[in-house]
Amino acid sequence: MCGIVGYIGAQEATPILLDGLARLEYRGYDSAGVAVYSDGALKVAKAKGRLQVLSDMLQGGAAIHGQVGIGHTRWATHGAPSDINSHPQVSRSGKIAVVHNGIIENYSALKQFLISQGVPFTSQTDTEVVAQLIEYFYDGDLLQAVGRVLHRIEGAYALGILCADTPDQLIAVRRDSPLILGVGEGENFLASDVTAIIKHTREVIYMEDGEVAVLTREGIQCYNHFLQPVEKEAAHVDWEIDAAEKGGYEHFMFKEIMEQPEALRRAIFPRIKDGQVYLEDFGLSDDYIRDIRKIYIVACGSSYHVGMVGKYNLERILRLPVEVALASEFRYREPIVDGHTLVIMISQSGETLDTMAALREAKRLGGKILSIVNVVGSSIARESDVVLYTWAGPEIAVATTKAYSTQLAVLDLLGLHFAQRLGTMGKEAYDQIVQEMLLLPAKMEQVLENREDIQYYASQYFNHDSVFYIGRNLDYALGLEGSLKLKEISYIHSEAYASGELKHGTISLIEEGTLVVALATYSRLFEKAMSNVVEVKSRGADVLALTTEPHRKEMGKIANGLITIPETHPMLLPSLGVVPLQLFAYYVALMRGCDIDKPRNLAKSVTVE
Ligand code: G6P
Repeated sequence: MCGIVGYIGAQEATPILLDGLARLEYRGYDSAGVAVYSDGALKVAKAKGRLQVLSDMLQGGAAIHGQVGIGHTRWATHGAPSDINSHPQVSRSGKIAVVHNGIIENYSALKQFLISQGVPFTSQTDTEVVAQLIEYFYDGDLLQAVGRVLHRIEGAYALGILCADTPDQLIAVRRDSPLILGVGEGENFLASDVTAIIKHTREVIYMEDGEVAVLTREGIQCYNHFLQPVEKEAAHVDWEIDAAEKGGYEHFMFKEIMEQPEALRRAIFPRIKDGQVYLEDFGLSDDYIRDIRKIYIVACGSSYHVGMVGKYNLERILRLPVEVALASEFRYREPIVDGHTLVIMISQSGETLDTMAALREAKRLGGKILSIVNVVGSSIARESDVVLYTWAGPEIAVATTKAYSTQLAVLDLLGLHFAQRLGTMGKEAYDQIVQEMLLLPAKMEQVLENREDIQYYASQYFNHDSVFYIGRNLDYALGLEGSLKLKEISYIHSEAYASGELKHGTISLIEEGTLVVALATYSRLFEKAMSNVVEVKSRGADVLALTTEPHRKEMGKIANGLITIPETHPMLLPSLGVVPLQLFAYYVALMRGCDIDKPRNLAKSVTVE
């Protein structure tokens, strides 16, 4: 959702900006633009639509020469997607250009003020207000003007600022929206995401909220909100650029599905030593753990679905109440949180605005915050008391796959760690689950090897226009994710239902030929799952069932289609079960000709409310 990249150095800026923006495309956007200092003035090029439109307009970067510039991919909030509303937004004289991620909440009042001062506006964006306001305060010192603006704007923002009077510097500002600085040799970068600049440098400075940075060719100086200099260390990003490239696969989503066994190995193996779960740098003492009275799991989207699985598993093994909450609801509902409440935030990006706001609310109420995050150094990671990284590597496809799997694994490891501290699990059960966790990557490889079966079922069902996912308990939680995957990327209407709820309404929608994906991996409730399959079949449904190997024969007798996964400990079934559902969604979307990695209207990282 919106992307920023900025460059200052000795190379041609425009191709670097276009390349950086291409690497941010996955975040979701509807228009793009660049501003480059060239021949004594700022040259701005912007276009609605795909980045290719902008790139063609700029002849791949050859059309504007210059060694300093800023670029942006926009996901419209204030003002419809259009060339004019695209970023960079410039001040009235054309001297100051701004790219912005986030929302300026008080832009309307500021705009009225500027209009009353005779400042003309050309766009409907909140961002133009920032550019105009900087110029309003500008008296030859850009940094001071930016400082004055920061004391007047409210909301969430990451800003990249370029001024034609000072083409030897770029200014970066961060508040509640991610922005990082890339340290090069004789060149420096700014970006909303490491992916945009990893090709050029792996030395990265993570900006804190309220910080401002001045980038020149020679170096980077950071300042706090009051423009007092602060010293910052660069961190080394250790993943390779290949991790953010397709590496021969047609889609990032497919690549990331296939990477899951490896990602699980990274998430699990270093955390199990001699049959014991070992959580690195774990800041929660045994006394604290024994004092926990309630656990909240707070997240959005697929991360929320991980929480749904986690609720079943954690309650079962810890005998503690676990409540899963949507972050967007949690933040406004006056949740009951105190010093005995552990609040687990789950987020791939670590930047989801609602999750971040919920974190702050939970912290304010006195809860301890543990986050399960993929992106190292992200806002949620930095504001949490304890962080467990998922080590899934960069996830580019909008529809999450490997982040989901690794989040689940980390939550399971956390559950085992707590269960041991609380003494709520016998040694035998503990040893068995630990053993099964170590086998999980190999079992997942088996599931992936059988992908042709799933491709076949996708070819049978890809033209359905409505699908139901049904299941009980862990299978219900799994269904939520399977259903979301399908609707996100194939645009088929799909719903997940707890099977027991079918007869309270949903069953009226089942008619001849309706596709029902019946999830029946959980042995304890297998017979009940069978009854539900019979129930929907007798109303004409076409049933594609997912179960474990031992139940193949029985389910095979009644389901129209059958997918199986290897047997494992019940707690880990969703980790294997999700893979066929991801593949099914992928192949269906492929057969429907959808834009799999960039589904319409969706963003990878949702940094607005
Ligand atoms: C977006 C993504 C989803 C993701 C959700 C939460 O909607 O498209 O895949 O599950 O945000 O994101 P987070 O980064 O907090 O896990």
